[in-house]
Amino acid sequence: MGKVLVTSALPYANGRVHLGHLAGAYLPSDTYVRWRRLKGDDVVYVCGSDEHGVPITLSALKNKTTPQDVVDEYHVANGGAFASALVHFDIWGRTSSAEHHRLTQEFFKVLHAKSYIEKRGSEQYYSERSRMFLPDRYVEGVCPRCNADGARGDQCDACGGTYDVTELKQPRCALPGDDSTPVLKTTNHWYLKLEAFQARLEEYVASHEAAGPGAWRLNTLRGAEGWLKAGLRARCITRDTEWGVRIPLDDAEVASKRLYVWFDAPIGYVTFTQQLFAQRGDPEGWREYWQNPDCPIYNFIGKDNIPFHCITWPAMELGYNDGREGGERPYRLATQVVANEFLTFGGEKGSKSKGNAVEIADFVRQHGADPLRYYLTAIAPEDSDSNFTWEDFRHRYNGELADVLGNFAHRTFTFTHKYFEGRVPEGKPAGPAEAKLRAAAEAARAAWAGALDGFRFKNALAAVIDLAREGNRYFDEKAPWKQRKDDPEACGATLRACLETAGALGLGLRPFLPESSARLLATFNLSDKESFAAGSALRDARDFAKPGATLAKPEVLFKKIEAEA
Ligand code: 2FM
Ligand code: ZN
Repeated sequence: MGKVLVTSALPYANGRVHLGHLAGAYLPSDTYVRWRRLKGDDVVYVCGSDEHGVPITLSALKNKTTPQDVVDEYHVANGGAFASALVHFDIWGRTSSAEHHRLTQEFFKVLHAKSYIEKRGSEQYYSERSRMFLPDRYVEGVCPRCNADGARGDQCDACGGTYDVTELKQPRCALPGDDSTPVLKTTNHWYLKLEAFQARLEEYVASHEAAGPGAWRLNTLRGAEGWLKAGLRARCITRDTEWGVRIPLDDAEVASKRLYVWFDAPIGYVTFTQQLFAQRGDPEGWREYWQNPDCPIYNFIGKDNIPFHCITWPAMELGYNDGREGGERPYRLATQVVANEFLTFGGEKGSKSKGNAVEIADFVRQHGADPLRYYLTAIAPEDSDSNFTWEDFRHRYNGELADVLGNFAHRTFTFTHKYFEGRVPEGKPAGPAEAKLRAAAEAARAAWAGALDGFRFKNALAAVIDLAREGNRYFDEKAPWKQRKDDPEACGATLRACLETAGALGLGLRPFLPESSARLLATFNLSDKESFAAGSALRDARDFAKPGATLAKPEVLFKKIEAEA
């Protein structure tokens, strides 16, 4: 038991979160948080909206509104969507908050004072018509790699290539109402000297290679090592925009520039933890999570965020910590960066512009939160991309949750009601078949716990379903509907073993399907609170089915979904 800090990538407040986001960074983290709490750990779980960045200003321009209006809308919508999927953060913060701007500026000032940040001149496109420097996003043209037209300033959607904006052919402005040809002009920006952290980051990443609880997934290691092998170079951390955190320098040039969104976003994890503890009346409490060598930190992200979490943010923390010996305790770097691959829709990454992804709130309205959580965990994109389809959802839900787990629990409970007055029977002493079922339950529990500890959520959930399958096999083999007439005592032993297994299933579902787990365990007449009193370790599932205990009337846990739906 100990303190644990869990973060989920801060989604941009520039569109509604969809199932791809949920599967990548939010459902796995919520599941993990529920798991650690089940083990009795003191978990703080932070997230919030990433409210800066040039794309937000572009949305505002397009919709003839202000960036503030854009982020206000999506902050509320996305917070609601996560809550509807039972993803329960301890705080849902905002990077537009004054506290966040203050802390970001503090990071900048500390890094700048230590010369980890420096000003450099660069050539950048400028629109004479709009009289402004153009961030990469505001330039379009012909891709220097594949010659596709409509390529973005630094990245081509057609071939996936990335390049420097100055390589783009036939550049034109991409401002609403301005498609003039931009000119290259010299401007100054501030750069974070990542190369100063090369050796320390190599050591950090290497320390997460070895097998064990601190081992990073291959995608994460490869992403981080790729950057390190190429050799770290200074990265521009300011942009020509008026939306974002002000550059805290006494320099006339800063007026029309702001800090790059990826400089401030990860600091949001810290700001939100600080805000949470301030709300709790313990303003220094956040340090026990961020600056405590005994508190592991887990970052859950999508794979596109790997370099920012494994290279740039750790570099910022290292630079900030430098020379603080004896003063403020150092920030701890992440223990685990759990990066998922993408959930695709029709084989493509979900995107706002394509409009191909399913929105979380829409899905939940139609089918509820637990069915969604089940399916997205069952197909979790842990090692490779996985594809969402409605047909597959129906198939997995009906075939596994309804037909296997739901059916097992239901036949067990209804049989007990019908023939044992709704009481857990004592029955005959357990025989070899009961011992086998119990051994299966023990093995399932070990596989489940091991997989959850290792961030293998798909495997952990599969262990629960496999146990339910085992339960059905046992039920069929024992045929209690016959036993009841031939040998009622043996029938009692059968039902008792099934009820214990149902208890184990209720416990097993708990990190994944919180509502269904609570409903299943409520049949044992135990409230959620009684089943898992605060700080209690994992219950032995057999406690749920003590002989003589009365059962509540069972309800159907998972109604089948018809094809028309
Ligand atoms: O990729 C994204 O959606 C970013 N907004 C994630 C930011 S994570 C963090 F570091 F804040
Ligand atoms: Zn291209």
